Amino acid sequence: MQRPGPFSTLYGRVLAPLPGRAGGAASGGGGNSWGLPGSHVQLPGRALSGTRGSAGSTSTSGGACSSVCSVPSTMSKAEEAKKLAGRAAVENHVRNNQVLGIGSGSTIVHAVQRIAERVKQENLNLVCIPTSFQARQLILQYGLTLSDLDRHPEIDLAIDGADEVDADLNLIKGGGGCLTQEKIVAGYASRFIVIADFRKDSKNLGDQWHKGIPIEVIPMAYVPVSRAVGQKFGGVVELRMAVNKAGPVVTDNGNFILDWKFDRVHKWSEVNTAIKMIPGVVDTGLFINMAERVYFGMQDGSVNMREKPFC
Ligand code: 5RP
Repeated sequence: MQRPGPFSTLYGRVLAPLPGRAGGAASGGGGNSWGLPGSHVQLPGRALSGTRGSAGSTSTSGGACSSVCSVPSTMSKAEEAKKLAGRAAVENHVRNNQVLGIGSGSTIVHAVQRIAERVKQENLNLVCIPTSFQARQLILQYGLTLSDLDRHPEIDLAIDGADEVDADLNLIKGGGGCLTQEKIVAGYASRFIVIADFRKDSKNLGDQWHKGIPIEVIPMAYVPVSRAVGQKFGGVVELRMAVNKAGPVVTDNGNFILDWKFDRVHKWSEVNTAIKMIPGVVDTGLFINMAERVYFGMQDGSVNMREKPFC
């Protein structure tokens, strides 16, 4: 089905070898502010509720604000929404003696902050497995216990952000280039919970996220992989370029990232499997049937929770 929208109509065209646009946050681009402690503001806690199998929300009162408060921008609303989602997930799912998978991005910062508060307040015994260099730094800077899959191959709960979530809870991830480790950690977790702000909630993948589906590739294969993806599935494939470095983004695993700007809605499970079979592909940013529940922080200060009906 050809879908209208912002996608290129250059069906099958491959742009990978050309110098591309600014890359994702892994290279310092992508518009994310993946702050570490001190880079975001502590706000009053909020309540939430949700319903099984359908979105539910509870409006909450706004945070403390003096007469000098200005009207919040969409950006600050999004940041506050991330915080609401992150904290809600931690309240609802983190328990004593868990092995936790810690995602990457800007939303997870709020969750880690709340985990650290709870560890201190409740004397929780938690072990954290990072999904990236950023997550590792976050764990260390918040004084949490860092471990790895060698010592803890079974994870109780993984919490991570997403770039987009569709109606079936399929995700696009990897805006920050961390998709491979994120998928490994989520894949070995008993429960995978996603946290996001209201901008990530879509009916179909691509409705709101226009940067494409990230594909991590072995560097020597980026041109043939780009061509293969374009020829098989259409759209435009771009090599993600670094911002404050000449050349491409290099992932935490020493690989390149292709951003596949698809031009229609696909059967994502089939496409994901097919792309993974292309020689040189490490993994894709399609997380199919992995997320159990998603918390969306909303503009009105509430949190919507959605989960698969069969969970
Ligand atoms: C990084 C990711 C992030 O989880 C995703 O990009 C969401 O990031 P943010 O929380 O900053 O919106 O997949 O590879």
